[in-house]
Amino acid sequence: MSATVLIGSQWGDEGKGKITDFLAEKADCVVRYQGGSNAGHTVEVAHEQFKLHLIPSGILYPNTLCIIANGVVVDMGKVIEELESLKARGIDTSNLRLSLKAPVVMPYHKKIDELEDQASLIGTTKRGIGPAYADKINRIGVRICDCLEEASWLEKKVKKIVEYKNRIIEGIYQEEGFDYRLVLDQVLEQVNYLKPYLADTSFLIYEAIKQGKKVLFEGAQGTLLDIDHGTYPYVTSSHPISGGACVGAGIGPTQISRVLGVAKAYTTRVGEGPFPTELNDEMGDLLRQRGAEFGTTTGRPRRCGWLDTVILRYATRVNGMTDMAITKLDVLDGFETLKICVAYRYQGRLLYEFPESLGVLEQCVPEYIEMPGWQEDISGIKRLKDLPANARSYLRKIEEITGVKQCLVAVGAKRDQTIVKCEIFD
Ligand code: IMP
Repeated sequence: MSATVLIGSQWGDEGKGKITDFLAEKADCVVRYQGGSNAGHTVEVAHEQFKLHLIPSGILYPNTLCIIANGVVVDMGKVIEELESLKARGIDTSNLRLSLKAPVVMPYHKKIDELEDQASLIGTTKRGIGPAYADKINRIGVRICDCLEEASWLEKKVKKIVEYKNRIIEGIYQEEGFDYRLVLDQVLEQVNYLKPYLADTSFLIYEAIKQGKKVLFEGAQGTLLDIDHGTYPYVTSSHPISGGACVGAGIGPTQISRVLGVAKAYTTRVGEGPFPTELNDEMGDLLRQRGAEFGTTTGRPRRCGWLDTVILRYATRVNGMTDMAITKLDVLDGFETLKICVAYRYQGRLLYEFPESLGVLEQCVPEYIEMPGWQEDISGIKRLKDLPANARSYLRKIEEITGVKQCLVAVGAKRDQTIVKCEIFD
């Protein structure tokens, strides 16, 4: 059995797309299990750059089965856009499968996301993610399989929901509502396009695992954006942690053999919320500029700071992490000294565990250790032993603190800028 869940260990944007792409070469099946088009993966192959939001980056390999599972909220228009853009670049998309059970992100979800975010100030991606998940839980969502039901049944359902949403949009926000017939027509046109891709994806994944295929579950966002285990309310509305893969893909926990946590060599976050190691100074600007830390989905500048191992140890715990991949180590080239946060100081006490309460986290001051930096350009290095001694010490320190072995180290955005310490898929 070889099913690996890949998750983000921080606040998202850890470089999961690159690691997924790297592993997808050996994987038989890559599965997205949560989130939606709020995610953004940039993959660089040769001199080409691919930006994907919903379709797993495994699509770039012709023999990899790519699945968007039931836990993903699907903006069908965006999937079509991505399919069209991949096809235009000569990529074979016939290996994509989309869950019939997946909830649809409707146009009113995006509108409400925009309107509600003005009040809540979470700084969402405005992709309709929260409202789509809320409707799913409220049992007033539209699933992809609903769109294949008898026309009169679907029309009645959509009409009722749109009328209800219009009461919110027009009544509370005094904005223009939606014509349910236009919403319906759009959804029907989109589902018609996507028909060849629709499937019972839980069954496909189960069969793949049973047959001993190599399955990779590709988490989106990161541990600290998890609705339960993240920095609530500054989180997304799904479960990016490894446990989310079970519910979001329709598999049992006994099917998972490894959990690979992806961690950036420093820390970033987008949107609002506490961030203890944030650098609001030239050093933060330098990290942003060197690491090209601007959102793939929204283009927003990311907040940047030192590596926080309180977070990494927490991510190790809540994900049951067995392996780690460190990304963007090359961004730290040329720093005289590097800082690693090993604990938080809170009201005169040292905290080693990530606090449960946002109120406490907001008052935490990082306790740092300092490590000597390296001056060499490491972006061309292929073997661990060729890294400068200080870079190896930095990696060893992270391993020592987290207790998780590192299997991959990324030193650049391209596929071949990856140092392999141990194989995930043999
Ligand atoms: P939502 O997922 O659009 O509802 O946004 C909720 C929070 O999660 C916001 O702070 C977003 O910036 C953040 N977020 C959502 N998706 C990502 C991602 O892929 N990377 C980093 N942050 C994200």
